[in-house]
Amino acid sequence: MSIDLMNAFIAPLVIMVSISLILGLVLVIASRFLAEYGPCRISIKGNKDVEVIGGETLLSSLFENKIFIPSACGGRGSCGYCKLKVTSGGGSVLPTELPYLTPSEVVDDVRLACQLKVKSDMEIEVPEEYLSIQEYRAEVAQSISLTYDMKELRFRLLEPETINFKPGQYIQFHVPSTNREVVYRAYSIASLPSMAGELELIVRLVPGGIGSTYIHNLSVGDEVTISGSCGDFFLHERSSCDILLIGGGAGMAPLKSILYSLFEKGSDRKIDLFFGVRAKKDLFYLEEFERLAKEHPNFTYTYALSSPGEADDWKGEKGFIHLVLERHLKEGEKREAYLCGPPLMADAVIKVLKEKGVDPSNIYYDKF
Ligand SMILES: Cc1cc2nc3c(=O)[nH]c(=O)nc-3n(C[C@H](O)[C@H](O)[C@H](O)COP(=O)(O)OP(=O)(O)OC[C@H]3O[C@@H](n4cnc5c(N)ncnc54)[C@H](O)[C@@H]3O)c2cc1C
Ligand code: FES
Repeated sequence: MSIDLMNAFIAPLVIMVSISLILGLVLVIASRFLAEYGPCRISIKGNKDVEVIGGETLLSSLFENKIFIPSACGGRGSCGYCKLKVTSGGGSVLPTELPYLTPSEVVDDVRLACQLKVKSDMEIEVPEEYLSIQEYRAEVAQSISLTYDMKELRFRLLEPETINFKPGQYIQFHVPSTNREVVYRAYSIASLPSMAGELELIVRLVPGGIGSTYIHNLSVGDEVTISGSCGDFFLHERSSCDILLIGGGAGMAPLKSILYSLFEKGSDRKIDLFFGVRAKKDLFYLEEFERLAKEHPNFTYTYALSSPGEADDWKGEKGFIHLVLERHLKEGEKREAYLCGPPLMADAVIKVLKEKGVDPSNIYYDKF
């Protein structure tokens, strides 16, 4: 190739690369300075004002000021937990908020704090119970494998040294991520409120999952940060009828706390636990429940395998847990039901409970 021909190709290429680099630089500078909304004041009705730098979501801005709003999905706009009333400065409702807001909530200025960016001064209302959510430092006291993908972890609280919670509630785990932002994930508390200096979690490893991988890799003595307690799924005891606990997978955590709380109170209500897993390799706590059933004549437990392996020598129930429940539950029985597990499982169980005549106001659930 002649020098003239090479120049004819190289010169435009160099010009194009230079223009791209300059444009990229302009974009970086613009996003750093032009998208900056400067200092903004968030006034929390009946409480305090906080000064933040605009541009972050309302949820992150509040978290930075130690105001912990429940955010079970970690701010991904997929749980609808982070609802707050924004009475001024919030702008129009975003399409990403709409699936989680009822028409009356829209009229009432309810917004999803994780979707809304702070761009100007704002006036908001934060429910009283959220303002009492605290940040805790804790250290891993024990980490044991329950199955190939399920771990039970015990944490000792360092500062503050005790936590208040109701059996069934959850904490938010603060997970340090690679880009130095903190990622938040919800984990139900499996331990008893009376052991206020400790927290037990049961965590299933989600392949590639940020939070569950971090927690599974923790070792005894590691220090962690959490906030809590949160959630409206807890032992209500509004009725005195028999109790049903129904769950699957990591849904065991809040059910365990509820079950042990009932035992601790010396409750003589009949308690039936129905728990679904896929195969024998997913089973845990079998021996523990066998022992509990012997110690507490008012307690029974039924495990079901939805897809047992060929080598699984399983004489117990088989099939999805809602179908097992359907076979066991008598029509018209008065029950208080607590269920926790994947959304599809929970929806199927709720349908069975209603069909069997369980009062919907006695059905409590957490789906995850
Ligand atoms: C109120 C509440 C209580 C909870 N309590 C518990 C608990 O006690 N124990 C527990 O283990 N988990 C619990 N969770 C779920 C937990 O908060 C996390 O969502 C879960 O650990 C996955 O987070 P991750 O950061 O590991 O995965 P992510 O980084 O969030 O996700 C990684 C990938 O996995 C997918 N993914 C996310 N979750 C699942 C899933 N469950 N199954 C399959 N794929 C998934 C995502 O779509 C993504 O593609 C609870 C959730 C809620 C809302
Ligand atoms: S934190 Fe889940 S929707 Fe906002």
